[in-house]
Amino acid sequence: METFINLIYLIAAALFILGLKRMSSPVTARDGIVWAGVGMVLATVVTFIHPAGSEDFSRFFLINIAAITIGGGIAWVTGKKVKMTDMPQMIALYNGMGGGAAAAISAVILIQQEYSHDIIIQSMAVLGALIGSMAFSGSLIAYAKLQGIMRKTYRFENQQLVNGLTFLVVILLGINLAISGSDYSMFGLFLFFVLALAFGVMSTAPIGGADMPVVISLYNAFTGLAVGLEGYVLGIPAMMIAGIVVGSAGTLLTQLMAKAMNRPISNVLFSNFGDSSGEAQEVTGSMKEIEASDAAIQMAFASKVLIIPGYGMAVAQAQHKIWEMTKLLQERGVEVKFAIHPVAGRMPGHMNVLLAEAGVPYDIIADLDEINEEFKNTDVALVIGANDVVNPAARNDKNSPIYGMPILNADYASNVIVMKRGKGKGFSGIENHLFFEENTRMLYGDAQASANKLVATIKEL
Ligand code: TAP
Repeated sequence: METFINLIYLIAAALFILGLKRMSSPVTARDGIVWAGVGMVLATVVTFIHPAGSEDFSRFFLINIAAITIGGGIAWVTGKKVKMTDMPQMIALYNGMGGGAAAAISAVILIQQEYSHDIIIQSMAVLGALIGSMAFSGSLIAYAKLQGIMRKTYRFENQQLVNGLTFLVVILLGINLAISGSDYSMFGLFLFFVLALAFGVMSTAPIGGADMPVVISLYNAFTGLAVGLEGYVLGIPAMMIAGIVVGSAGTLLTQLMAKAMNRPISNVLFSNFGDSSGEAQEVTGSMKEIEASDAAIQMAFASKVLIIPGYGMAVAQAQHKIWEMTKLLQERGVEVKFAIHPVAGRMPGHMNVLLAEAGVPYDIIADLDEINEEFKNTDVALVIGANDVVNPAARNDKNSPIYGMPILNADYASNVIVMKRGKGKGFSGIENHLFFEENTRMLYGDAQASANKLVATIKEL
């Protein structure tokens, strides 16, 4: 029985790794999710049969059924209902739950004192508790910020000093817990958890909304690490591997996202990004409108069009119509490509997912690094519901909250057409100088409705 159970854990672990591997390409990503999901089902089912660390099978069974029925039920319903554009909040929330679960396992282990004689296991449990607690409370704050529940960034004088001291106290309490075996005070344990949770809140509350994607990804890595540590403590290899896979994938994603924002992670965590003290540059000029028919003619007679999708395309679900328009332009001999900014939309890969769903071939989709040089030889840059990712203030205005973030150089194209509903700002809440440029025309309206008009005109030409 033991061998059979371990074999199932091994298969589950292999499925996690292979699933993650398949997620690295949009072509196989859906399969990857299914493979990892099957691995998770196997690991969960086999844990029922073999409840690690508990002799009381019926209690464990009931708790699991209750947890899975209630927890799984809520996740199923919310997962079905959530809008694609609200996905980052949902990821933050569920990610936080993972960290919280790992911290809760640690709490039980430390209270039960089953391993109090083993300093290594105690240390792993304490570390898992610290990282899991931070990921839990920090992710909840990230959720509140992205959901618009918490609109302010909370900062006060000497905040970093207070945070540093809190962290120091947590570490000292943790060391004490790890080395004191069964001879620890319940109050010390309680204080350790309270301060670890508080540290997660205190270190996330001052971070601006624009940095939340990086922060969520970082907490995702933390959760993985905490789960991996608890897997070690409980002696469950599949849990360890799942945690390590999540931890390392989360770390890589955090690095990629920080690179996309052109900022080291330390800068995201400890600087006041999104809160520059100087005055942002004044916008001059006016926004000039264009009719859909004129925009369509301009593109139909161009040699090269670069399309920049953003969050607004996701809101409008305009990707199918845009692909239809692209095919019509290609039939007329126009070279069309899609330029993707790494943080366009509201989650990593958001635009790639939408374009893949619409059937856009990958060879006409290019990342920022590959495509940015091409804008100066482009007749029309078509910006669809994108704003921050094409804001030249990131390049030109030292006082802009997004200064330093790489952008797609849409403004270097001969003509720029921007599809958006009105004068709404982007995620960072700042004005976009591109919309006021001489070579920019605004095509107002919902992106899908405008795309319909563009398609209709091009068909008639
Ligand atoms: P944003 O800067 O958020 O701008 C989106 C624009 O779309 C808005 O200006 C809005 O203007 C327009 N829009 C909204 N609904 C529309 C519709 N139905 N039809 C047409 N236009 C519509 O988008 P972006 O350029 O993609 O930049 C992404 C931002 O989100 C960055 O600041 C990034 O840091 C942040 N962020 C990214 C992520 C990840 S990981 N991708 C996660 C969280 C946050 P109107 O209201 O005038 O229409």
